[in-house]
Amino acid sequence: MNWHTRYLQQAEWTRNLRTYLFEKAGLADACRVLEVGCGTGAVLREIKSPASLHGLDLEPASLAECRIHASAASLTRADAHLLPYADKSFDIVYCHFLLLWVRNPLQVVREMARVGRTVLALAEPDYNQRVDEPAALKQLGKWQTEALVRQGANPSFGARLAETFYQAGIQLTETGPIQSAEKKRSAEEWENEWAVIEADLAESVSGEDIQKMKVLDENARKSDERVLHVPTYFAWGKS
Ligand SMILES: C[S@@+](CC[C@H](N)C(=O)[O-])C[C@H]1O[C@@H](n2cnc3c(N)ncnc32)[C@H](O)[C@@H]1O
Repeated sequence: MNWHTRYLQQAEWTRNLRTYLFEKAGLADACRVLEVGCGTGAVLREIKSPASLHGLDLEPASLAECRIHASAASLTRADAHLLPYADKSFDIVYCHFLLLWVRNPLQVVREMARVGRTVLALAEPDYNQRVDEPAALKQLGKWQTEALVRQGANPSFGARLAETFYQAGIQLTETGPIQSAEKKRSAEEWENEWAVIEADLAESVSGEDIQKMKVLDENARKSDERVLHVPTYFAWGKS
C-alpha cells in the first residue's frame, strides 16, 4: 500500500475548501503554522507561505516520507493528545483526516486550541451517512466502515466535529459539510482505492466475496451508475 498516493488522492478532494479556508484564516499573514497528524505531507507540502511550517505525527515512517515531500517543514514525532509546544505558539493549527483516528478527539482539539490562535479541522468523515449506489454495493460500504472500527477509528466522528469545537472552547467561525462535486474516478484512482479496500477487508471478508464486489463496482463505474458519497465535515474558529 502506497499511503502517500492515497493521502494525495484524499487531499485532492478537499483542495478547493482548503484554499478558501486558509485564505480566510489569514495564512498569508501567518508566521507559524502547524499540521497535527501530518502523515506523509500530502497537505503540508503544498502550503505556499512565508510562515515557518511545522508538522507533527506519531508514525516515524510517515515522518520520514514527509521529510521528502515537505522538506521546508520542521517535523516532530509526538502524540497529538499532548502537543510539545508552548501556549499560543502558532497562528494557525490545522488537521486533515486526523480526529477520527485519535483516542480522544476532544483532548486533541483542546491541545490544538491551546497552542494555536486559529484552529481548523479540514476534513472529518461520517461513514454512517455513506451513500452507495447501486444498492448491491451497500454491503461494501458496511464492510469498509466495520474495517475502520477494527483499525481503531471512529468512522462517524465527522458528525460530532462542531460539537467538539464548542466543547474545546473554540469560537466557531464556520462549519459544515464539504461541498465537493463527486468526480468520476480515473482507472488509476479506482485501482488505488481498491488496493486500500482489499488491504482493509483481507482479514474479515473472503477473497471470493471481495472479488465479486470489485466486479460489481467496476461494472457500475463503467456504466456510470456508481455513486459513492461519504459526507465529510470541516470546522474552524478562534481559540
Ligand atoms: C489519515 S492520516 C492523514 C495524514 C495527513 N493529515 C493527510 O491528510 O494526508 C492520519 C495521520 O494521523 C496520524 N495520527 C494518528 N493518531 C495520532 C496521534 N495520536 N498523534 C499524532 N498523529 C497521529 C497517523 O500517524 C497518520 O499519519
